Amino acid sequence: MTTREFPPDFLWGAAAASYQIEGAVDADGRGPSIWDTFVRVPGAILNGDDADVACEHYERMPQDVALMERLGLGSYRFSTAWPRVCPDGKRVNPAGLDFYSRLTDELLAAGITPFLTLYHWDLPQALEDEGGWTNRDTAHRFLDYAMVVHDALGDRVDSWTTHNEPWCSAFMGYTSGGHAPGRQEGVAGVVAAHHLLLGHGLFVEEFRRRGGTPDRGKSVGITLNPTVADPFDPTREADVDAARRLDGFHNRVFLDPLLRGAYADDLARDTEGMLFDGRPWQDVVHDGDLALISQPLDFLGVNFYHGDVPAALRYDAAPGELLGSRIEHSPRPRESPYPGGGFVFPRTGRPTTDRDWEIDPDAFRRLLVRLRDDYDAPPIYITENGAMADDVVEDGAIHDVGRQHYIEQHLHAVLDAIDEGVDVRGYFVWSLMDNFEWSYGYAHRFGIVHVDYDTQVRTPKDSALWFAEVAARNALQ
Ligand code: FCB
Repeated sequence: MTTREFPPDFLWGAAAASYQIEGAVDADGRGPSIWDTFVRVPGAILNGDDADVACEHYERMPQDVALMERLGLGSYRFSTAWPRVCPDGKRVNPAGLDFYSRLTDELLAAGITPFLTLYHWDLPQALEDEGGWTNRDTAHRFLDYAMVVHDALGDRVDSWTTHNEPWCSAFMGYTSGGHAPGRQEGVAGVVAAHHLLLGHGLFVEEFRRRGGTPDRGKSVGITLNPTVADPFDPTREADVDAARRLDGFHNRVFLDPLLRGAYADDLARDTEGMLFDGRPWQDVVHDGDLALISQPLDFLGVNFYHGDVPAALRYDAAPGELLGSRIEHSPRPRESPYPGGGFVFPRTGRPTTDRDWEIDPDAFRRLLVRLRDDYDAPPIYITENGAMADDVVEDGAIHDVGRQHYIEQHLHAVLDAIDEGVDVRGYFVWSLMDNFEWSYGYAHRFGIVHVDYDTQVRTPKDSALWFAEVAARNALQ
């Protein structure tokens, strides 16, 4: 095999998120988040797991950073927990903020670049009680919280990401109800999406106002999880239309306002007659919002796990044909996260990870090329990519060849996109360590480091040792 090099200065890292690893949900004045509430809804989380303890990262943070240093990671993508920093969504809690200040110092001392995300889904419950992301005011509260974090860490953190996967926050949270806060309110997902984008825009504006510009070494972006929507049967008009709708409510609902300053017309057509609070969702888009949302970004974060191959729902299909889809695999019965629904995800026969996500690295390459071709996207960081595997511990080692192979295939796809001229600047593997995988609890392991939840012992898997070598060489071979 020939060696394939990554561009010089390519950033190699691992990612994690506050709620998934920290535990310590009552420590030092932290308030409850929507996930603390949601994990207690019967049936919401596989095996009834909760994240009260998780990986005990809140206590073990210095050792975890030391582990990252041993793995030679250049960067660590983490999120700050809004309910630690502002327990009721508003009031500042210096003790909670201090944790992230210590984390930042620890990372810098270890030579690891902090890559900070402001919102990875843990909305303070008090704000959800006032409507959550369907309430415009939440975008303004987000700005206040984000600036508190910025004021405390801005001297040491250069890379700022507003949201992680707002698609999940909006559509899993408010349309399908598969994620916290578990609301199943149809077009409310689009309303939430707009307010998430508004919060993003408000932060970008203030960040720039305070001198956050690349020439001063500061950058701001957002992480999306765009998919690749290929019709199951490209000769069937209904499947082609399903792919268009999926693309609309997964990709373009975010990409268009962010990178073109407008919502596409077909979103309006597809939601005609659907009301939230008695009104069409477009009513929440105020004059000036789209200008705020479409301010230039320094980077786009892309999370990618799988493409999507929708088929229009056939009412004559046997149940078995409809099962086997990604969405049906969730532990909790749920609505479609796409307002109006009307399509399913039959298997295509590709190999899958142990989560049953079909593996399609070329879809990843096509996505990256499309972001450049259709959107003239800013420089891209792969902010998440990785695989769930049913890992087995054998004599203290974890030979997770499947995960390693998955990552390798996707790194090749990144290189293929770079060869086609796409500006990709870095790659963060999801995840640093096994953690609380949302509605799948602890059963779904994504880490390159194994966590024994009885003892909290961390053991680098074979994939971690391999990943460290790739990062050190800055090349695949
Ligand atoms: C992404 C999330 C991340 C993790 C991975 C598997 O959607 O951003 O927290 O759960 O999926």
